[in-house]
Amino acid sequence: MHCASAFFAAAPERITARDEARFFGRLKTANNTFKRTEPSRLAGIDAALVATLAAHCSRVDTALDLGISSGVTTLELMEALRAADHAVEVTGTDRSLRARLVALPHGCRALVEPNGHVLQYEVLGRAVRPWERRLDRWTGMAAVRALVEWRLREPAMARAAAGDGEEVALLSPRLRRAGAFRWHEDDITRRNDAFVARFDLVRAANLLNRHYFAPDTLRDAVANTIAYLRGPRAWLLVLRTHGASDHRGTLFRMGEGRRLAIIDRYGTGSEVEDLVMELAG
Ligand SMILES: C[S@@+](CC[C@H](N)C(=O)[O-])C[C@H]1O[C@@H](n2cnc3c(N)ncnc32)[C@H](O)[C@@H]1O
Repeated sequence: MHCASAFFAAAPERITARDEARFFGRLKTANNTFKRTEPSRLAGIDAALVATLAAHCSRVDTALDLGISSGVTTLELMEALRAADHAVEVTGTDRSLRARLVALPHGCRALVEPNGHVLQYEVLGRAVRPWERRLDRWTGMAAVRALVEWRLREPAMARAAAGDGEEVALLSPRLRRAGAFRWHEDDITRRNDAFVARFDLVRAANLLNRHYFAPDTLRDAVANTIAYLRGPRAWLLVLRTHGASDHRGTLFRMGEGRRLAIIDRYGTGSEVEDLVMELAG
């Protein structure tokens, strides 16, 4: 199920974690990042979080996951919380979650981001990546892609810009059918008043990183993240994964006066721990 048309047409219950990993793993966004998320990558952190919540006899009814990409780790967090009897409603946000699937001549199709960047072409029922792998030079794929781009890129961009085709959410179908889940396109660097003081748990995994944002923008993003915590006894988890599994994060809990205390550290702790403490002080 590599083609976007087959992936989005399939009944969600037929789509497995492996199907999602394969499909999203081939989508490279305009920012040069992949939609890829390895299943179970954050399972150890989810388990540690759930254990800490239990140790504090804390219930989480509302959670906000920021920068969810395809939402695979969001689904896993939701499942870990529900398995521990938290009847949680989850909101997931990302700067960019939508794309258009447009029909092109000769039965071809393209999956296009709102900025016009093509994520995937579909030719004769086969997915063609618009980005190059080193191997492509030896398999002849580089020549095929050049031909496809030459014939289809402009019509794909024009049809998407005209609003043709079907809008799709680049999200795990398993997450969308999990219930009690909402998604929003939202930029963490801009305050969203609808989120202020609403959530028992806010997670920012692989988002609030110094290499993503300029210092002032990072301050705004961290301040917004803190603002979305409901109030005393709410939890904030910030983490970044280095390599495949070196998770460095910090779990904070809000006290009176919206001050934060550090409850747990994973690995060496979050690289923005000091900034979080400063902005919550
Ligand atoms: C590396 S992925 C993290 C996915 C997931 N949280 C995880 O750890 O598996 C980072 C995500 O942050 C999103 N992102 C980047 N800048 C953002 C911003 N300013 N506001 C919201 N999301 C943003 C990207 O679109 C991308 O999907």
